[in-house]
Amino acid sequence: MKGIPTKPAGRYVPGGFFEGGTSMSGADAAVAAAPSLSGISPVEREILVYSYYRDAELRGANLLFRLMRKVEDPESQVMLTEHLADEVRHAWLWTERIRELGGYPLPVTDGYQVRIGKRAGVPRKIVDLFALTVVVEQRALRRYHEHLKRQDIPERTREVLEAVSKDEGWHIDWIRKKAREFAAEAGDPDWMDRAVARYREIDREVMEELETYERQVMGLA
Ligand SMILES: [Fe+2]
Ligand SMILES: [Fe+2]
Repeated sequence: MKGIPTKPAGRYVPGGFFEGGTSMSGADAAVAAAPSLSGISPVEREILVYSYYRDAELRGANLLFRLMRKVEDPESQVMLTEHLADEVRHAWLWTERIRELGGYPLPVTDGYQVRIGKRAGVPRKIVDLFALTVVVEQRALRRYHEHLKRQDIPERTREVLEAVSKDEGWHIDWIRKKAREFAAEAGDPDWMDRAVARYREIDREVMEELETYERQVMGLA
């Protein structure tokens, strides 16, 4: 594509987006990143946002891989395989969208899931893994819905946002149902709901950090 940069301008830190350095906490780093974001073009901005979405989809897929290794229940194996296929396809749709803009996906080392992982660790128990999956899926869906509410979204982006949102409903439903079953079998019927509440708290903290940054990326701050 002529005239459109095939690589993002050299303002981003390789492997990350916070020019202010990784030692800062999220909100501070987001503020420090502001000057670097003011110089990027609208297309670069789009590529950056879609790179975050792509990263969240791929890391979501990684959580599902973990679950597949732990869960023996045959019905869950079938559901997990289809679910995983969806997430990888979502990552591809964002990748394709980035390529349509003449760009390449940017590495995301400090995105939503990395921040969640730093705070929550990687759950070892199946019900906790399921709970974390539900919380990150709900967050993805909310982010896509919020994006859809914005004015002047390119038509192709709207198509991708709608396509990826469409699958999240059944993902959340089956995971929640199955995890409650496992919790009941383990003799602790409230386990799933407790774990979801705990991860939701972590999710809220992470989103507070990220929202400042995202508003700047989108030129809303
Ligand atoms: Fe997805
Ligand atoms: Fe999903």
